[in-house]
Amino acid sequence: MSADDFIVTPWRVEGKIDYDKLIKQFGTEKITNDLLNRVTKLAGEDHFMLRRGIFFSHRDLKTILDEYEKGNKFFLYTGRGPSGHTHIGHLVPWVFAKWLQDKFNVNMYFQLTDDEKFYSKQDLSLEETKKFAYENALDFIALGFKPENTKIIIDTENIQTLYPIAAQVAKKINFSNTKAVFGFTNDTNIGMIFYTSLQSAPCFIEDKPVLIPLGVDQDPHFRLTRDVAPKIGKLKPALIHNIMIPSLQGPGGKMSASEENTTIYTTDSPEVVKKKISKYAFSGGQPDVEQHRKEGGNPDIDVSYQYLRIFFEPDDNALKKIHDDYKSGKMLTGELKEILIEKINNFLKIHQENREKARDKIDKFLFEN
Ligand code: TRP
Repeated sequence: MSADDFIVTPWRVEGKIDYDKLIKQFGTEKITNDLLNRVTKLAGEDHFMLRRGIFFSHRDLKTILDEYEKGNKFFLYTGRGPSGHTHIGHLVPWVFAKWLQDKFNVNMYFQLTDDEKFYSKQDLSLEETKKFAYENALDFIALGFKPENTKIIIDTENIQTLYPIAAQVAKKINFSNTKAVFGFTNDTNIGMIFYTSLQSAPCFIEDKPVLIPLGVDQDPHFRLTRDVAPKIGKLKPALIHNIMIPSLQGPGGKMSASEENTTIYTTDSPEVVKKKISKYAFSGGQPDVEQHRKEGGNPDIDVSYQYLRIFFEPDDNALKKIHDDYKSGKMLTGELKEILIEKINNFLKIHQENREKARDKIDKFLFEN
């Protein structure tokens, strides 16, 4: 792979991603200013993740808004493959989905694919992925969702509901379709080959248009779903894509929940957060203070700055000041890291309290077949 090559698939993300190129490769549409303004107008306020291009691309978002304006509500759907504890990158589409739900007053479904991670990870048992499904559900609930309009689907628990829908989808996807989209080979296990039909199923759980906020790496599944939809008399799911959240080691990959030192987990203690950021967060700063003061840092590649931009500093003025001070050399890498550490730890303190409270509420969220 040469320096400017990149790969984005649901199970592998590598290289430095050129998002304009990716939009062309995937055949999605860029979120234009017009579209952004329309969302803002309908929602009654804007969201920093839209404003900053964290959500940068979509499929059929216009149709969702057209229908909504006519009084036809959509519903929201997103999900998580429970391969480990939740890390802060996972929260990006969930927090945005919560905002959409509040502003548009719509139902939300959250799918936990314990089967998928069992199929795709050599070293995980089905018991382990199921255990993580319940753990990840706590993080989702902790963001403030309400059981009245939010349901959590766990594949192995809710297969009774999912299977008849998945069967409709599966019949319309042939082996060469999945091979073309995912690069499957003769030794790919057949669970993986069937799996897209299960991730498609929640799209058709209500007879309404669906909007899916998701990491762009998940787009290929729904490309297949969208091809199938009209063939089974259903509406195509609409998507709104977020960029991949860089790992602590820097741009060029998403955070993987499986590698301890590349990731901040929602369960990390303040000490662990401090250590991980101080020690591992890739810096756009200069090798020594003197040079840094003279030449300044590069916020574009600095992971601490990027985490503030993507999630932890919603205030544009505060973010700009950090950006400018870092770039001019006035702010040192250590100081930037301190800001981020404090922001993360403040967030996690509340999140971890809510996460514990969620243990008593989880039953109300679980989808009943
Ligand atoms: N495959 C996703 C993952 O590995 C989980 C998932 C299931 C999902 N349904 C989804 C993600 C819908 C986004 C939207 O994380």
